[in-house]
Amino acid sequence: AKKVGLHALRRMYESGEPLSVLTAYDYPSARLADGAGADVLLVGDSLGMVVLGQDDTTEVTVSQMVHHCQAAARGTRRALLVADLPFGAYLTPQAAASNGVRLVKEGRADAVKLEGGVRAAEQVRAMVDAGLAVMGHVGFTPQSVAQLGGYRVQGRSAAEARSLLEDAEALQEAGCFAVVLEMVPAPVAALITSKLRVPTIGIGAGGGTSGQVQVFHDVLGLYDKLSPRFSHQFARLEGPMRAALGRYCAAVKRRSFPARRHSFGMSDAETRLLEA
Ligand code: KIV
Ligand code: NA
Repeated sequence: AKKVGLHALRRMYESGEPLSVLTAYDYPSARLADGAGADVLLVGDSLGMVVLGQDDTTEVTVSQMVHHCQAAARGTRRALLVADLPFGAYLTPQAAASNGVRLVKEGRADAVKLEGGVRAAEQVRAMVDAGLAVMGHVGFTPQSVAQLGGYRVQGRSAAEARSLLEDAEALQEAGCFAVVLEMVPAPVAALITSKLRVPTIGIGAGGGTSGQVQVFHDVLGLYDKLSPRFSHQFARLEGPMRAALGRYCAAVKRRSFPARRHSFGMSDAETRLLEA
């Protein structure tokens, strides 16, 4: 399959074809999500939670993002690979550009994503000037969870919704090729989508966005801590995985594993010499 680039995304967007986006954090998750046909893979800083077991995304470092992105890149053939800039990695436009370049050069990402609207526009401009493809992210922005006072829908009043639209427009003007809308009322997301000339990627933003993004572990039922209302478990794989691992442990205990076919032999002559 031909690699998805910004032109291919643009064509899908213009023809009204929804963009499918999944997170991926390493070689197996990228291989599975890419093979499933996701147009974009996002090495999200949600890895802090679903892979590293942290309480939120604020502890994730640029080096960790690079490490996971390298692994995801090895499992990606077709999808556009986007990497998150983690909390604190884009405090200035210069930091944004240099950390973004690192995710591309070392992490082998095709594009980078950061959180924030008007407040992040200067950073986006600096990254675009550096030659990076940049995705924006507004609405609920998990890196600011403390400031936002928890996991809550953003833009519920008309005034807040208008300021969200301004945020999204600022990102578009700064050069973002797409904007994630997270936990935004469906009518607000649909309005923003209709006003922008770049695709919106929704998560908890209803069906009126240009695409959808979901966390790999949420879709497969592999995360134990929270299951957000906006995610859907398309399978519950934790049970089958637990059962398979349990069968292995039990087989070792009763010596039914390994069987002969899992073992390597020796010629009879060499066996006799060995035993002599
Ligand atoms: O880190 C992440 O998984 C994300 C998506 C949910 C958009 O930023
Ligand atoms: Na993220």
